[in-house]
Amino acid sequence: MPIRLFRLSLRFVLPLALVLGLFAYAVVPLVDNMTLHWFMRDLDARSQSLANALQEPLQEYVPQHAEKKINQLFERSLRDERLYAMGFCDSAGKLLYKTVTYPPSLGCNVHSKDAKKASLVRFPQGSLHVSESALENNGQYLGKLILVHDMSFIEKRSADTKKYIIVLFAMMAVVISLITVIVAHLSWRDWMSSVKSILRGEIGPRPQQRSTPPEVRPLEGDLRVLLHELNIERRAQDDVTHLWTPEKLRTLLREELAGDEILVVSNREPYLHSRTRKGIEVQRPASGLVTAVEPVMRACSGTWIAHGSGSADRETVDRNDRVPVPPSNPSYTLRRVWLTKEEEQGYYYGFANEGLWPLCHIAHVRPVFRSSDWDQYVMVNQRFADAVIKEARTDDPVVLVQDYHFALLPRMVREVLPKATIITFWHIPWPNPESFGICPWREEILEGLLGSTILGFHTPFHCKNFMETVDRYLETRIEHEASTISYGGKLTQVEPYPISIAWPEPNIIQPSVAECRAVIREEHGMPLDHLLAVGVDRLDYTKGIIERFQAVERMLELHPHLVGKFTMIQIAAPTRSSLDEYQNFEARVRMLVQRINSRFSSGNYQPIILKAEHHDAQQVNRYYRAADVCMVTSLHDGMNLVAKEFIAARDDERGVLVLSQFTGAARELHEALVVNPYHIEQSADALYRAVTMPEMEQRERMRSMRALVKDFNIYRWAGRMLLDAARLRQRERITTKIRSHSRKSLRRVV
Ligand code: F6P
Repeated sequence: MPIRLFRLSLRFVLPLALVLGLFAYAVVPLVDNMTLHWFMRDLDARSQSLANALQEPLQEYVPQHAEKKINQLFERSLRDERLYAMGFCDSAGKLLYKTVTYPPSLGCNVHSKDAKKASLVRFPQGSLHVSESALENNGQYLGKLILVHDMSFIEKRSADTKKYIIVLFAMMAVVISLITVIVAHLSWRDWMSSVKSILRGEIGPRPQQRSTPPEVRPLEGDLRVLLHELNIERRAQDDVTHLWTPEKLRTLLREELAGDEILVVSNREPYLHSRTRKGIEVQRPASGLVTAVEPVMRACSGTWIAHGSGSADRETVDRNDRVPVPPSNPSYTLRRVWLTKEEEQGYYYGFANEGLWPLCHIAHVRPVFRSSDWDQYVMVNQRFADAVIKEARTDDPVVLVQDYHFALLPRMVREVLPKATIITFWHIPWPNPESFGICPWREEILEGLLGSTILGFHTPFHCKNFMETVDRYLETRIEHEASTISYGGKLTQVEPYPISIAWPEPNIIQPSVAECRAVIREEHGMPLDHLLAVGVDRLDYTKGIIERFQAVERMLELHPHLVGKFTMIQIAAPTRSSLDEYQNFEARVRMLVQRINSRFSSGNYQPIILKAEHHDAQQVNRYYRAADVCMVTSLHDGMNLVAKEFIAARDDERGVLVLSQFTGAARELHEALVVNPYHIEQSADALYRAVTMPEMEQRERMRSMRALVKDFNIYRWAGRMLLDAARLRQRERITTKIRSHSRKSLRRVV
């Protein structure tokens, strides 16, 4: 870095030093001549006044031939320190009187007779200034007085002047260079960080843009176009088939996996049966995981093994604890696993959600690790592993393990079904090795996960964190280029698979955007042109709900004309409510809403409406379609599918997404207004920008994001994992064949 900085500085300093050097070279003789000229004029004047003063006595002494008096007069005059010698020549040009210092070679032929001239004469002892003045008496020419001044002091001064000029230029060069280098570095740093931001997709016409240096702005458009083109090219190369559909996924299963059975394991079940006053009702849980995996299961059939947590779940299964789903049009099997209260408490609430969840999210909530929770976690993982083994009809099923609830399960299954292809997807972020290192059972968790054939994360960054963690705490062989980890003779492929949502959403009939806008506003007593932002989250401390409300408050402070005209509706599904941390969080959220509302509400108007209850997918969709803005401000999130759901819902190509930079989604959705949710002012600015964004700009951004989500849908997510699995299975089969073939040949030889 210092060498690069030094080289960069030289680029500015060298030409500057060269120009200043040339300038000094030209200026020195000029200044020299000028000062010489000034000094000569000065000496001329002095010579003239001395000659005038000597006129009178010489007019008297010369006719008298009073040599002694003349010599005395000359000696007295010579006391002037600059006057070096004097002489007097008669009218015939003969040197009659002179001081001893008078240069013999000078004689009387200095200048023409009558002119009062002066000149610079070079003698071996140095330069002398010689001037002559005619002496006359009553009109009669008596001769001329010659005055010789020492010029050596002038030469000395001229040399000094040269020295000063050179020093002055050198100092100027240093000062100008320093200023130039500092200014250049500051500008360079700004330019670099702006260009980097553009490349990362952080700069578009978005709130941070005010800090984009004007010099970089002309580049911004070009860079964004270039990035977009690159993205498209990469996507096209990355994936031969452009659009992944359920049909395409089914074909893949048939052709690449030869109809192999698919088993999914997750804690959360896709359908809960609950007993209500109206009888048994089916519910879809608020879960990103379920949103993503369910359409894949519809396409692949197979069996989904999950915790049966609904109050009427037991009543709806067969004697093998299975129920065909979706209830309206069954296409796969849900196999429920039952947990006792104690098991659920230790494994789900305790180890998974008080330990691993805060450990991986780094949202400033301390993880809690209890041995009793860990014991339950191990036991429940074994229970689910047993269920997988029992459900498997073959010895090599494809098992899709979901999330942090089952870190140990891949190894448990592998031990019994060594030929199974186990794909584990970690739906939450993976922290850096230091953060993960505080988990007392870190080695066991890593070993458990390395039972997987493929281990997937949302982003390359999480993959990198995982590889580094393994490198830190286990004895393994890691191939970074191939992204594989070899542990105990088995290979695990670690890959990023950014999760998404279903697109096209199968058979969904939804009210028009205009209708949703009108109905939702009417339901809340708002006029049709009322500005509306929505937030849709589980009531979880990682989602940045408090920061989001603070941004709303700040925006209303900064733009008071929006008070009464803007509302944020927050749909917050209750979650993990038996945990203290979640209860406290809910209380804080409610208090904040109350405080902000009491500041700005009047009559029926409230700036924030908190709906802390479960909403089904269709209800949520109406809000997405009715809103002007959707706010996703997670403090840390693996992907965040709300962002993608909002985009999918906006077939009118309107609406603005404000998106936290700490979500996996921000790595893909560059046309969102990306914010740091901890920076309240920035989020407030982005929100204001969102509610005032011209329709044209909304359309442009939304169109581009919709194209991306459409291409990178959930079928592609699953398809890519299954394709990778198919490739690995194929390789494994070939290796096994080769091995058995070579064994047979060996036996024949022996
Ligand atoms: O983000 C990880 C995740 O498993 C999501 O898939 C899901 O939204 C959430 O956590 C589920 O929470 P829970 O099942 O605990 O309600």
